[in-house]
Amino acid sequence: MITLIQQIIEDVYSNHKDLNEGEVATYIPELGKANGSHFGICLASVDGQVFSVGDWEQEFTIQSICKPFAFQMALEERGRDATLQHVGVEPSGDPFNSIELDPRTMRPYNAMINAGAIAIASLIKKDPVEAGVQAFVEKMGQAAGRTLRIDEAVLFSESVTGNRNRAIAYLMLNCGIIDAGVEASLRQYFSQCSLLVNCRDLAMMAATLANMGVNPVTKERVFDFEYIRDVLTVMFTCGLYDYAGEWAYRVGLPAKSGVGGGIIGVVNRQVGIAVYSPRLDDKGNSVRGIAACKEIAAHLGLHAFEFTNVGSSFMQWLNES
Ligand code: DON
Repeated sequence: MITLIQQIIEDVYSNHKDLNEGEVATYIPELGKANGSHFGICLASVDGQVFSVGDWEQEFTIQSICKPFAFQMALEERGRDATLQHVGVEPSGDPFNSIELDPRTMRPYNAMINAGAIAIASLIKKDPVEAGVQAFVEKMGQAAGRTLRIDEAVLFSESVTGNRNRAIAYLMLNCGIIDAGVEASLRQYFSQCSLLVNCRDLAMMAATLANMGVNPVTKERVFDFEYIRDVLTVMFTCGLYDYAGEWAYRVGLPAKSGVGGGIIGVVNRQVGIAVYSPRLDDKGNSVRGIAACKEIAAHLGLHAFEFTNVGSSFMQWLNES
């Protein structure tokens, strides 16, 4: 018998599969090879149940969804005070690739935009640079519950075309935000963005955040609980860039999008949500991803301030399944 939650995500999938608006990202040439018709949805609950529909096994690069996880790693390695000397927690209201720093502090506004993510990459990089990349890949594999790898073609494509990110990095070197290992910091950042994941991996990574840092299936502690609050807060206020306010208003969940077409949402202590569909709107967010998340959150009453949400609405739906 099909469960209630499975039926709901299958309905959401059917409702949006003919939504063909948006364009696949091409500014990183290798991303332009993605199939725009792909569409997958996956939900992973904190008690280890997984619900999937569509192209949920299709791999794609994580892109900016690496940013909250790298922020978590920096907080764990450096602590709050040292990390926040290099990056703020203020929404920028500007596009993800803006060449700007907060004029009051000369820090990037937050760790979800490129500037902040490059500053974070510079904190968690290691010598040799492969060691820092490997540490990130391993940690993400623990959160996903399987071994993950880098897409070398996407990494190469972004490395040779990523001059806007180079400009941001050199601006931050000039302002004393990152150290002189600029190419190493960029290599760390580009590699993080090139991690291959599927929808189930992302849902499990989001569920690991929702589950206070413990992977709900493997039961391994992946993230230090102390800093998850920091990460979810910045995801809530900054995760969708210049759509962040609208997202918080309409969906009401900590979230992060990537130009590979992925989007994650975290329902604290309940469930991780992931949607994959590579056609993007003009802000770089997945069109079907936003539409599907809006419907899932509305249908299940997951908005953080939903008046019917008494703190465990998803688990109530599960119990009714
Ligand atoms: O830095 C870049 O341009 C990409 N590697 C990541 C950008 C991204 O995913 C923005 N998110 N929507």
